[in-house]
Amino acid sequence: VKIKKVRLYKTVYVPEELPRTPYREVAFVGRSNVGKSSLLNTLANNFKLARVSSEPGKTRSVNFFLVNERFFLVDLPGYGFAKVPLKEQKRWRELIETYLKGRDTLKGVFLLVDSRIGPTEKDLQMKDWLDFYGIPYVVVATKVDKLRTSERQKLEKKIQEGLGDKNIKIVPFSAKTREGRVELLKEIERLLES
Ligand code: GTP
Ligand code: MG
Repeated sequence: VKIKKVRLYKTVYVPEELPRTPYREVAFVGRSNVGKSSLLNTLANNFKLARVSSEPGKTRSVNFFLVNERFFLVDLPGYGFAKVPLKEQKRWRELIETYLKGRDTLKGVFLLVDSRIGPTEKDLQMKDWLDFYGIPYVVVATKVDKLRTSERQKLEKKIQEGLGDKNIKIVPFSAKTREGRVELLKEIERLLES
């Protein structure tokens, strides 16, 4: 896909407000601060589109970005950030789960993993969850610009081991250098057409 035009279509805080639309979509999930919103901005070539912050817990709603008036990229709140009050974490979890479970227009998910940290317990839960519901997903290793060459060489293997799946595909990505952008666009195309 070529991303020509992107606009924020809807911001959703409660499951009841999730829009029913004819458009296909792909979504971005992962820990708070892993780089979901930054990735979206990189894809769209617009650094002001989705809000980014060094403070985890920036995205608090499900944000539907309509691309080329044809499909959605969906930015979700992150999980696993201890400083967010439990009640708020619970609300996000319910929102994310309702979203992921009940959408026949959702064609795939990008599961973002911080390449310096590797998969966490919460990421493994998310993977199991996606497997259980049969949602196709691609794993993205974020912030690869922060890795040293030696770490970089072991990256794919480390994440595959952490996820307990030697065959899983990993896309290395950096919002800073834009590495991986073209590959992700291809993956989006593939998922949307599946
Ligand atoms: P929540 O909305 O809290 O769930 O976070 P998020 O996953 O949307 O992360 P966000 O995109 O807001 O980025 C978090 C922080 O990581 C920001 O300070 C970004 O500038 C930084 N960051 C994101 N991607 C990269 C990257 O590829 N390289 C580097 N060096 N920093 C990055
Ligand atoms: Mg965000």
